[in-house]
Amino acid sequence: MLSATLTLNPAFTIAPVSRRTFGSFVEHMGRCVYTGIYEPSHPTADADGFRADVLALTRELGVSLVRYPGGNFVSGYRWEDGVGPVADRPVRRDLAWHSLETNEVGIDEFMRWARKADVEVMYAVNLGTRGVQEALDVQEYLNHPDRTRLALMRQANGSAEPYGVTMFCLGNELDGPWQTGHKTAREYGRLAMETARALRSAEPWLELVACGSSSSSMPTFAAWEAEVLELTYDAVDYISAHAYYEPIDGDLGSFLASAVDMDHFINSVAATADSVGAKLKSPKQLKISFDEWNVWYQSAFQATQETDWQVAPRVIEDCYNVVDAVVVGNLLISLLRHSDRVTAACQAQLVNVIAPIRTELGGPTWRQTIFHPFALTSRLARGEVLRVETQAPSYPTARYGSVPVLDAVATHDAETGDVTVFVVNRHLTDGIDLAVSLAGFRPGLRVSESYTLADEDLYATNTMDDPDRVVPSAAKDADVTDGILRASLPPVSWTAIRLSVD
Ligand code: AHR
Repeated sequence: MLSATLTLNPAFTIAPVSRRTFGSFVEHMGRCVYTGIYEPSHPTADADGFRADVLALTRELGVSLVRYPGGNFVSGYRWEDGVGPVADRPVRRDLAWHSLETNEVGIDEFMRWARKADVEVMYAVNLGTRGVQEALDVQEYLNHPDRTRLALMRQANGSAEPYGVTMFCLGNELDGPWQTGHKTAREYGRLAMETARALRSAEPWLELVACGSSSSSMPTFAAWEAEVLELTYDAVDYISAHAYYEPIDGDLGSFLASAVDMDHFINSVAATADSVGAKLKSPKQLKISFDEWNVWYQSAFQATQETDWQVAPRVIEDCYNVVDAVVVGNLLISLLRHSDRVTAACQAQLVNVIAPIRTELGGPTWRQTIFHPFALTSRLARGEVLRVETQAPSYPTARYGSVPVLDAVATHDAETGDVTVFVVNRHLTDGIDLAVSLAGFRPGLRVSESYTLADEDLYATNTMDDPDRVVPSAAKDADVTDGILRASLPPVSWTAIRLSVD
């Protein structure tokens, strides 16, 4: 058994927990929309064709914000195709995923779904095949109150009130050669700057996200951010970051340390943005929108011609195991730890496509293993994020060198006095005896809720036939005595412990 200590103090604040950290992503891709959130023939479908079982799980997941409609899809998307009478909407090719898009779901349907799910929408405009005018048009349709052609069109389509979208992504991953309308940093930076200025001239309060690199492994990473931000710095509020993790060649030790990479990635993007700010002598500090992140077994994904030009084909429906859930829990720890810079984040995606929620056509919906750390972190992270001083042994990894076996963050709600500790044990074989010093908090803190996600079978998954094979259980030996919280953390585990005052 290993041992580790954490020291917390209510004065060690990083930033308030941003509810937007618990965002998700709905792309018109695979079965995320069609037979995911929307399936009019499903037994649970409501009058709008939305699956009520999926809506219920979306609420339970604690999603605050949803990025829509893509992703790579958005770079060839014509939003006008998805509004007005459904019978008149065209079927189009989606070049990003070689699928057919029926346009049965468009802006008005999605906004209705978002209201039911109680989520804010982050709308991505197409800067791949389109430009400033189309971005202005979709903004007018979404947000203009009355009298203009597109506001009247929205009203005629059933939404008298504007949708009031405030967060817009200025395109998607335009640094990637796979992107329809792929651009150089200079081409994209100029287009993003012109689009941002135009959108803001109508609505100065908008929060705009410029595309950062599509991953930190891109050859242009950091140079892309620097060039794009030199052109857009004054006009945008966020730079985006995207990261997907998977075990390479079965190396679970490195995979479990994925949050080390996410920490480094966030720090690098913040440093690059700050260096542009310094060069421009700007007092403004940009935020990071980590608007695509997850575990994705990407190297196993091969686009096959068999799924070409189908409607809602099964693509990248990854089935997640225990290790994946621990990694997702750890990535959420990393995002919370950076709450001073990362104030919006979207797990990609919500349903079926690399997703915490799975559905079967005409059948059930179920929670994947990664659902649990997300739902619990979203529910339990309240108040201020606290910096945590950690003393723990390290273990060697092939990708990241020597890495602490334990990673943690905490939150403190000054109003209720609640403290929640989120912690992972990344060691493959050894448990950890954890001791957390609680000096400085209100006296009388006791464990009010605790959860550990772990399993002797690291590859156990939840399936349609066994949907609750992997669920959290109470944290082992979690107890507070003499101002010290103690708990036993099994190998490869994610744990959350909420402490409340009597
Ligand atoms: O989430 C799947 C895809 O990953 C998105 O469409 C794209 O933006 C990213 O490369």
